[in-house]
Order: sequence, then structure tokens, then C-alpha cells
Amino acid sequence: MAKNFDEMEDSNRSDNPTIHEVSDPARRIVLRGGAAVGVISLLAPMAATLSGCAATPGGGSAATGPALGFKGVPTDATDRLVVPEGYVATAIAAWGEPVGVPGRMPAFRLDASNSAADQAVQVGMHHDGLEYYPLDGSRRGLLAMNHEYTDDGLLHTDGQRTWSAEKVKKSLAAHGLSVIEVEQRDGAWQMVRPSRFARRVTMETPFSVGGPAAGHAMMKTAADPDGRRVLGTLNNCASAATPWGTYLSGEENFAFYFNAGDTLTPHERRWGLRKGGLGYRWHEHEERFDATKHPNEPNRFGWVVELDPMNPTATPVKRTALGRAAHEGAWVAVTKDQRAVVYSGEDARFEYIYKFVSRDRIRPAGNGLTAAQANRELLDHGTLYVARFDANGTGRWLPVVQGQGPLTAANGFADQGEVTIKSRQASDLLGATKMDRPEWLAIDAKSGWIYCTLTNNSSRGVGTNPAVDAANPRANNSMGSIIRWKEDGDFDAATFNWNHLVLAGDPANERAEAKGNIKGDMFGCPDGIAFDSRGVLWIQTDAHATQMYRGEFTRIGNNQMLACDLASGEIRRFLTAPTNCEVTGITWTPDGRTAFINIQHPGETPSDRSDPAEPRKFSSWPDYRPDGRPRSATVVIRKRDGGVIGT
Ligand code: FEO
Ligand code: CA
Ligand code: CA
Repeated sequence: MAKNFDEMEDSNRSDNPTIHEVSDPARRIVLRGGAAVGVISLLAPMAATLSGCAATPGGGSAATGPALGFKGVPTDATDRLVVPEGYVATAIAAWGEPVGVPGRMPAFRLDASNSAADQAVQVGMHHDGLEYYPLDGSRRGLLAMNHEYTDDGLLHTDGQRTWSAEKVKKSLAAHGLSVIEVEQRDGAWQMVRPSRFARRVTMETPFSVGGPAAGHAMMKTAADPDGRRVLGTLNNCASAATPWGTYLSGEENFAFYFNAGDTLTPHERRWGLRKGGLGYRWHEHEERFDATKHPNEPNRFGWVVELDPMNPTATPVKRTALGRAAHEGAWVAVTKDQRAVVYSGEDARFEYIYKFVSRDRIRPAGNGLTAAQANRELLDHGTLYVARFDANGTGRWLPVVQGQGPLTAANGFADQGEVTIKSRQASDLLGATKMDRPEWLAIDAKSGWIYCTLTNNSSRGVGTNPAVDAANPRANNSMGSIIRWKEDGDFDAATFNWNHLVLAGDPANERAEAKGNIKGDMFGCPDGIAFDSRGVLWIQTDAHATQMYRGEFTRIGNNQMLACDLASGEIRRFLTAPTNCEVTGITWTPDGRTAFINIQHPGETPSDRSDPAEPRKFSSWPDYRPDGRPRSATVVIRKRDGGVIGT
């Protein structure tokens, strides 16, 4: 199925003639060995680590010294993963590996003949955000991660040539979240299996609903007349760990999974629903994905979800107080008086950036409760805002609150539940700023600056689409940017100041709007960003295969990961990834000596992926076997001398 969401025509145009949406989920690959540059070979079957790591296990705190101590790597357009000299990268937890549920560890079959039941206890497809939760400091911990979407061409032995209820079940099982246990033995990281923490959350796992939309009429379905229990989470993109030890993830392009039939309501149109969805074909065998019969089912997706990775029996929760959106993810800052401020963006063209300020303070663990348990309802009560970026470099947070301003019953917002379910329509009325696809955010708690990648928007300023503005200053923005702001006071402030950290691009690009202003190594389409413990900002890219074959990416090459020293402004390339993969997800052990990233959708095809042979033309990472197929996987990065990553 074509997953070229960014390049799709805007068939889901909103009633508001100035607003389009449509975003692009993620996809792309990783490794192999070479000479001087520390390229890694991943030829072994995915059992555990794939290349030797002679590093000495490190301990203690992060080293000091120059922010960027590594020798940058050149661009690369081949099917391998390259890290700097002195570093080693290994792949673990590829799609299909058993997560380690005791007594249920079916081996992955290279021909993809595993059943849906197997897949429900195996690592899902197309890894995205991931976070490390220590069990034994930097030696042993849990990795929680998302599985954004499926390529059904790869997921099934014969792709989508035939279609069946069993195939739908397998696709449902390959979505969602995984929790795996990992440990470092003799300097090499591997999965611990079985593990009492090992868990899969799939599209059939029950979620509870928290916040103002819980029990709302628009959330009720035949299967859930109370509107408080939803099966599954899908298209999960970025992730964040909360200060209270849970995992947050955003449900991004949920609209594409539903058939909305020939006639769309204004609400359905504004949320990008369409006839037939976008190729997942679930509605053909699972009726709840047919919105012509179950029109409220789509309202139950598009939320930020929260999981307690330490408690494998805890029910995950959809946090509706944070608003509904094609959420990329959600990130938490803490006010001086210990309230949570949750920032989130909507990765879709001309959509918005939000923040939520909790009513209550974060509670410490105690009285027999873990911190996660003590803050079980923290994100259900508070105030939601949407951002307006003004041309003079200031900005304002507009309350997304029923009864305030235009958000009245007369305008279609009867209560706060309806406001959150219809966050897009509310933000339209409030006059919030339509952004160029906000992806990840990263919060610099020390300086107070908040960074957000605006990955690209090739519709900006084109035809009848919204024109450029100060915050989104480039027409046909194919390269993306990183914007940042600082609140006027604490994180709960009503106003802020903003500017751009960088406009991405190739300085040799013929098009003036695509040259960018990077100081250092060029890149395009920033997506993942995160700060390490030293304050280095890491940037991961996600240019879609269709963009890469259009010419502007000829010199930029495959997707990559870079590091930015904010003191000097220099951006240096740290890693290049396999063909047509996306680099995403980044987390570290507390000592900073191991980094984990995800490589998503190696071999993504520019167009149709319905046949398993297609992606193989582009990539066979990480197994490099002619009888295999490209697989998303987690990559462990270490320094050979055991040092802190990036030094
Ligand atoms: Fe799933 Fe916004 O990338
Ligand atoms: Ca992306
Ligand atoms: Ca992303």
C-alpha cells in the first residue's frame, strides 16, 4: 500500500478553506561494516547483538570536555549504517523477535509466516519512539517502544495479494507498543528472555479513557456503551518518559485506518477520514473500522497514551485532557511548584502546537505507591492551550477551554469533552498558527528553551494553501526547520518568545528557500530530537523515499542522526542509516555510555509496498539475507573505549 502520506493530494480538505492537513508517518533502515569509519556489519541472524563490542562497561557520571568530540561521518546513500570512528553499533529487537513473554516465545520466521497469535508476543513492526527505564542502573533496564504502522507487503508471506481476517489480526498485533528487558553482558547489550516485564500492547489491548472525553457521547460505541474502554492504540509515533516513570506516546495518523464511506460529515472531513482509509483494509474484516457503521470509533483515537512500563498488568490510558490531534508525541516540563506542563504537536500540514498545564502537583512515590501509581490521574485535570506565533518574535498560548472565547455551545462545543475531541476545530476558531508539521519536542530544563522540529511542508505557500508566515517562513518547505521558544516566566506562562534554531537544507540547492542556514553538516527533514545529559541536542531525520528520489536529497543522502552543540551552533553528522529508512527514537542509559535508537522501515518504497519483493530492491537491512526481508530494529550504540556517547 502506498504510505506516501506527505505527497498525497489533500483529499481530506477541511471545511475551513485555509486549512489542509495530511501528514506522513515514518519509515526507513541500518548497518554494516567497512573500514576506517567504524561501519558495522549486521550479517548475523538477529538473535542478539550483531557485531562485537569490545567496549569496557562504563560507570560513573558523564564526562566533561568538548561537546562534540567525535569525527563526523560523510553522507551516505548505501544500505548500511555508519557511525563515527571509535564507535560500534549493534541491532537488537528487530520486528518479529519474541519480546520474551514467559512460555510464549515463538521464533521469527524469515518468510513472515508467523501467525497473528505469534505476532502478538513478538516485537511489532516499524519501531519509533523508545525510552530506557533502569532496573539496575546502566547495566540492565527496560526499553519501551512504539510500532507506528505496518507494511502489509512485508508483514505477510504473500503481501496483500490475498486478504483475510487472519491477516487483519496480524496487522492489529504488529501495531502498538513493546516493553522488553535488556542487559549488558561483557560489554554487549542483549534482550533478556523470558522476562516478567516483557509485554506487547496491540490494537486488541484494552485501554481506559481519562480526562474530559471519558464517557462522552461522542466516545460511545456499540461495543463500549460507556465510552470509557477502547481496544488498542495505533500509529504511535514519538515517545517521552515522564518524571513519574511512565511512557507517553502519540497516536498520529489514525484517520487512515477507517473507512468513512462516500459521505463525510464536516467533523470527519476535518479529521482526514476518507472512503476506504489508506490501504490498511481492516474494515473489510473488523467492523469497528468501518466508520459508516461505527461513526464514533475514530473519535477514540488521536490521543496521547500513557503506559506504566514497570507494571506489566497496568491498563494503559488515553489522556484526553491533552487534546485530540494526529499527535506526534508529548513531552513533560515541570514548573517550579511541581506541576506538569505537557507540550505536544500535531504532525500534519497546517496543524498546531499544544501545551497542557496540570491542575495538581506531581506527587512523589510513597504510602506503598510507585510514582507512576501516585500520579495516575495527574494528566486528567488541567488546562489545554494552543500556540499562536506572532511575527514580532513573541507568542501566546490560547486557552482551549469550553466557554472561553469562541468555544461555545452555539459554535459546536457543548462541553470540554467536545472541545478536546474537536481540538482542530477549536484551534481553527481560536486563530492558532498553522505549522509545518510539528514532530518531536525537546525541553532544555536548564535554559528553559523548548525545541520543536517542523519536518517539512511542501504545500506551504503553494496554490490556495496558507502562505508563509514568520514561524513557517519558506514556501514549498521541503527541508524543514527547528523552531524554539522560551516562556515568559515559568513553563505555565501565557506568553513566550521564539526564533528558529536552524533552517535545514543543502547550501548547494538551486532553490533559495531550500538552502537552509546550517552551521555544519547538511541535513533535511528533522523529526526526532532529544537532549542528552550533557545538553547536546541530537537530531534525527525522516525524508520520505519520494523526496529522496526527487533530486534535492542527492547530496544529503540517506536519513541520518546529527548532534548540535548549542553553545557554538555547530551541527555534526554522527550516523548515516540504511536505504530508505527513517532514524527515530533516542534514549540513553543514565551514565550516557550507551545510546539506543530505532531504525524504521528500511527499504521503504517510493510508491507501492504491497508486494514483499518491492522493499527488498532497496534494502535487506539488518539481516542481509536474500531469503529475508528488511526489518525495523533497535540499534545499540557504544563507544569502543566505553566513553560517553558524543565525546
Ligand atoms: Fe510518525 Fe510524525 O512521524
Ligand atoms: Ca516524520
Ligand atoms: Ca516522527
